[in-house]
Amino acid sequence: MGMSALRLLLIPGLLCALHVSLCKAACAEVDSDTEAVAGQGFKLGCISCKMRGEVEGSASVEWYFRARGESNFVHIYTYEDRTPTILDERFEDRVDWNGSKNTNDIQDASIYLLNVTFNDSGAYRCFFNRILTYTYYEFRTTASKIVHLTVVAKATRGTASIVSEVMMYVSIIGLQLWLLVEMIYCYRKIAAAGDEALRESAAEYLAIASESKDNCAGVQVAE
Ligand SMILES: *[C@@H]1O[C@H](CO)[C@@H](O)[C@H](O)[C@H]1NC(C)=O
Ligand SMILES: *[C@@H]1O[C@H](CO)[C@@H](O)[C@H](O)[C@H]1NC(C)=O
Ligand SMILES: *[C@@H]1O[C@H](CO)[C@@H](O)[C@H](O)[C@H]1NC(C)=O
Repeated sequence: MGMSALRLLLIPGLLCALHVSLCKAACAEVDSDTEAVAGQGFKLGCISCKMRGEVEGSASVEWYFRARGESNFVHIYTYEDRTPTILDERFEDRVDWNGSKNTNDIQDASIYLLNVTFNDSGAYRCFFNRILTYTYYEFRTTASKIVHLTVVAKATRGTASIVSEVMMYVSIIGLQLWLLVEMIYCYRKIAAAGDEALRESAAEYLAIASESKDNCAGVQVAE
């Protein structure tokens, strides 16, 4: 009896402890952006969460690139034992590691492209080689993702956004002018109607006043 009561108390505690450790290892597989601006830097995102967050793991990462119009992926980059290696001259001195830092347990394999050119358009594939270390054995898994990158000129996007901004202001100002005109028109109408009403009510007031004067006179007479 006492034992099962104790167990009932322990179970929620254990669940909480487990939950905390799960939260600490939280990893979310956010998709990469897919539009880069020529001349600027761009983060190619690639996240592969461990299936079991609490298990020790280590991973190496490879990146492949297929330029627009080409048919094959080319191995361009490797990250292993915290050491990056650029394998393709097109990306020489242009790639920085943006993934998990100070660990071999890589879950974020993002890389950063410097000075993006139009030639960088195409498909990028990141590839995880992961080893999960259990007490008595190791488990190897692989995961890969593809990012389709489009490089746009700064001017295109800038013009588009400027045009849409101008359109927004024009429509806002237009709406306000229309409202103002409408308000003046209504105000005039109301004012005119009000004048009439005022005249009417003044006439009524005078009528009532004269009537009550008569009444008063009548009352006075009756007294
Ligand atoms: C990614 O790398 C670039 C270039 O080294 C750096 O400027 C940027 O802050 C890094 N971003 C992250 C999230 O690590
Ligand atoms: C990127 O471009 C800027 C300006 O053109 C240049 O100064 C810089 O050296 C370039 N960086 C790389 C890594 O090519
Ligand atoms: C882009 O590729 C073309 C053809 O391979 C090459 O001539 C050109 O120099 C490249 N441009 C840049 C900025 O790397």
